[in-house]
Amino acid sequence: MNQDGADTSRRRFLTAATTVVGGVGAAFLAVPFISYWRPSAKAMAAGAPVEVDISQLEPGQLINVSWRGNPVWVFRRTEETVENLERLADQLRDPDSEQTQQPEYARNLHRSIKPDVMVLVGLCTHLGCSPLFRPDSRPQGMEREWFGGFFCPCHGSFFDLAGRVYTGVPAPLNLEVPPHYFIDDDTVLIGEEEGAA
Ligand code: FES
Repeated sequence: MNQDGADTSRRRFLTAATTVVGGVGAAFLAVPFISYWRPSAKAMAAGAPVEVDISQLEPGQLINVSWRGNPVWVFRRTEETVENLERLADQLRDPDSEQTQQPEYARNLHRSIKPDVMVLVGLCTHLGCSPLFRPDSRPQGMEREWFGGFFCPCHGSFFDLAGRVYTGVPAPLNLEVPPHYFIDDDTVLIGEEEGAA
């Protein structure tokens, strides 16, 4: 594990590419380029739900898409990551998700519908910076137990891989889980509850 904050993980931080009609163009650089996201022009314009193909999302990878102009992360946890979620409760501000930061169906240990697929709004609950993905390497300044997570460099807040905030940092709340559901095993719809259409 790297102590200097550099992310040396072999896991890849994936971003989705947009090919939206109307000149919005590519909003994110994909490294490597994998087009998972199929938004319509209407979806982009009106903040409508966006459909995300997760068929190629491997354990440890994260896709960054945009919904209502905000980053939303879809992250595939490893089995080890899921197991580690139980080990941090005493270091977290709201380990049981008692605050209204997630839909009811994500109010569980892993804060997700499926234990291995996490969907989070990628905005810090302090002042809205976008935290950095640190699935392995310990961020600079983090001296507590760390099994991977997210680090907000603006004022130094830390979140685990369920978006749960650590105690003693500026961010007051867990990262938000947006409304979403699985259309099928390989497709997540972000921005809408199941049966709402
Ligand atoms: S905005 Fe994230 S810690 Fe302040």
